[in-house]
Amino acid sequence: MAAGGSPDAALNFGDGAVLPYSPAKVKAAPRGRTSSWSSLLLLLLGRTRKLAKVRLLLAAGVLLVLVLLASQVGPLMGWNHQPSLSASSPSRDGYMVLINTWRRNSLLKKAVAHYASCPKTDAIHVVWSENDPPPESLKTYLRNIIMSRSRNSHKPKLQFDLNEEDNLNNRFKPINGLTNDAIFSVDDDLLVPCSTLEFAFTVWQTTPDTMVGFVPRMHWLDEQKNGVVYYKYGGWWSVWWTGTYSMVLSKAAFFHQKYLDMYTYKMPSTIHDYVTRERNCEDIAMSLLVANVTQAPPIWVKGKIHEIGSYGISSLAGHNKRRNNCLNDFISLYSAVPLVSTNIKAVDAREEWFW
Ligand SMILES: *[C@@H]1O[C@H](CO)[C@@H](O)[C@H](O)[C@H]1NC(C)=O
Repeated sequence: MAAGGSPDAALNFGDGAVLPYSPAKVKAAPRGRTSSWSSLLLLLLGRTRKLAKVRLLLAAGVLLVLVLLASQVGPLMGWNHQPSLSASSPSRDGYMVLINTWRRNSLLKKAVAHYASCPKTDAIHVVWSENDPPPESLKTYLRNIIMSRSRNSHKPKLQFDLNEEDNLNNRFKPINGLTNDAIFSVDDDLLVPCSTLEFAFTVWQTTPDTMVGFVPRMHWLDEQKNGVVYYKYGGWWSVWWTGTYSMVLSKAAFFHQKYLDMYTYKMPSTIHDYVTRERNCEDIAMSLLVANVTQAPPIWVKGKIHEIGSYGISSLAGHNKRRNNCLNDFISLYSAVPLVSTNIKAVDAREEWFW
């Protein structure tokens, strides 16, 4: 399209290439389709003078066409989306949902109903920490709701882990009779949509030693006093702002069942005592434990999670100060800071609009 016309003006493409440009030719264009299109393009080039913008425009046009054609072309090319063949096996290809609950039966009912409906949920294990065991009526209700919500032929098994004492270490007690290695640990007031959960599960399967979750946190360097380095617990806003994290919280995360064993039997008992006394920080303890094993960061998975309760420990005043304290006290028990920070976030490519 650079041919013809006196080059009385030239287009600079920014990267050095120069094309002749004739305003007269642009105006006298309407002879044939091709020339009018190329003239229009030249006009656009002249106006924007930035190749990047033109590229964007062209890309947008191409994308629009692709989007319009995708539904027709995809199947013809054999690009049909294949839903995974998950249907009904009592499989190794599944996970146990480990729900921590405390005196919130209405939330527990909603959580069990939801997780029972996810196709890869193999079993549901409820950590119950009250003086009284769960009432029979609650158990019956939960069994029935699992039967009605699960679409698998193999219905998820329901187990209660009974603890008389309210102790957050209960949450990570080893579980007998597991049929698979994947644990999805979740609070009773958090619902993760099944498709999001399944995606996170596939991420975990590629790296089963790693914690894979939805609630990222960071240990920020705070100050150095008398040769000791102190860290600050970074909440959601600091992670959102910087895109940096080093922990994912066990309120919504996959991890290997071997860590239950390690948490209970191998972790220093000073940490158990601390968690019992402070009624807090079992999740930070688990993050440090896993990081000390893998010497690698966890993986944060993109996904919307829904909070159905309104009240939790993190809404109490002084929460951050206590979290700072545990973070530093726990780290001091390790010979080197085990946490590794990262900026990686796993996303489902099927849901990304722009490559
Ligand atoms: C961290 O891992 C090392 C190496 O496996 C182990 O020897 C050490 O006891 C662990 N530290 C803690 C505090 O668990």
